Amino acid sequence: MTHALRPLPAQLPAQLPAQRAQDLPPFHVMELLARAQALQAQGRDIIHMEVGEPDFPTAAPIIESAQRFLAGGRVDYTPAAGLPALREAIAQHYADKFGITVSPSRILITAGASGALMLAHAVLTNPGDAWLLPDPGYPCNRQFVRAFSGLPVSLPVDAASNFQPTAATVDAAWTPQTRGLMVASPANPTGTLIAQDELARIHTSLQQRGGTLIVDEIYQGLVYEQAPQTALSLPGADDMFIVNSFSKYFGMTGWRLGWLVAPERYTRDLEKLAQHYTICAPTPAQHAALAAFQPDTTTILEARRAEFAERRKVLLAGLNELGFKVPATPQGAFYVWADVSGICEDSAQLAHRLLEEAGVATTPGIDFVESDGKRWLRLAYTTDVARIREALERMRNGRLS
Ligand SMILES: Cc1ncc(COP(=O)(O)O)c(C=O)c1O
Repeated sequence: MTHALRPLPAQLPAQLPAQRAQDLPPFHVMELLARAQALQAQGRDIIHMEVGEPDFPTAAPIIESAQRFLAGGRVDYTPAAGLPALREAIAQHYADKFGITVSPSRILITAGASGALMLAHAVLTNPGDAWLLPDPGYPCNRQFVRAFSGLPVSLPVDAASNFQPTAATVDAAWTPQTRGLMVASPANPTGTLIAQDELARIHTSLQQRGGTLIVDEIYQGLVYEQAPQTALSLPGADDMFIVNSFSKYFGMTGWRLGWLVAPERYTRDLEKLAQHYTICAPTPAQHAALAAFQPDTTTILEARRAEFAERRKVLLAGLNELGFKVPATPQGAFYVWADVSGICEDSAQLAHRLLEEAGVATTPGIDFVESDGKRWLRLAYTTDVARIREALERMRNGRLS
């Protein structure tokens, strides 16, 4: 039997990208980066303080682990939830570092924290569900929510609460449409931590409302004045979604590897979603990461953490001298969120001038905050102390206002 084809309309409607793609704002820092690269191509020496990735090479034991695996010649899929040995190694890491028991069955290996955030929303977000997102915050979170037709809702946070939500602000913003709250600790762009007792209060409040807490702990290992913390050590934390990654502390950004700790009752559905979306996280990266928790790797990573701590000290002191205000001292990650309202009216213009006149690349606040982006500038100390000193010197010699 043949089917008659319907005649084509004389004029096909224009093929447009989906609305969610059309609505995406550009990353302003990418324009700055393009300009920085153009200046570099002209021979200018640019100090990069805009990039959110460690400047260290991947630690040798991790590289060697990948090389041993690749020498075997077979690079196949792994199970969707990840290599069992890596899930066990992560569970062991929680036991060794935090003294807590996390079943490997709750741990899913993902393509970076990004993959974990996407999977978390895939399993949690129904169309129209609202998510409270601290503002300033990591801009991609809005897009993970929108990918599943959820509604990102800004939850303004300021220096008074260390740029972190409180139980009171969450309660005040909650509506019947709210599905949950996303928190990052340490946070990007501010580097601030949420206090464990406040997080516990928020968690209790969410439990009473039937909401869900997603905690992004991607910068967990990079804290400077206290021991790393995890929300998983709070009482009743087995209903939280915890995101982590090998990108930052473990220095493996390009390997694309992270993990999600999920409540037991979601793991089967998450596994199915992972099977359909990505099949598995990159196999060589998973084998490489088996070496990430070894003592010789930890020695290297801890030395790097000490180097970040020194950079942070130098940068904070230098910025203070130059008139930048840092109202909440960053306790972790590798960012300083500086208030530049005493120096200029628009941080995007300042970022532009810093690049053109001082050869220092930074990120304007507008990329991270909904309301008063012009007031803020993010500086990343992902470059060494000598270069940070040089950047400060150039800023001192230029006229900033
Ligand atoms: C807070 C936060 N979450 C998630 C990510 C994504 O990281 P990745 O996918 O490399 O693990 C980043 C990257 O900068 C981040 O800052």
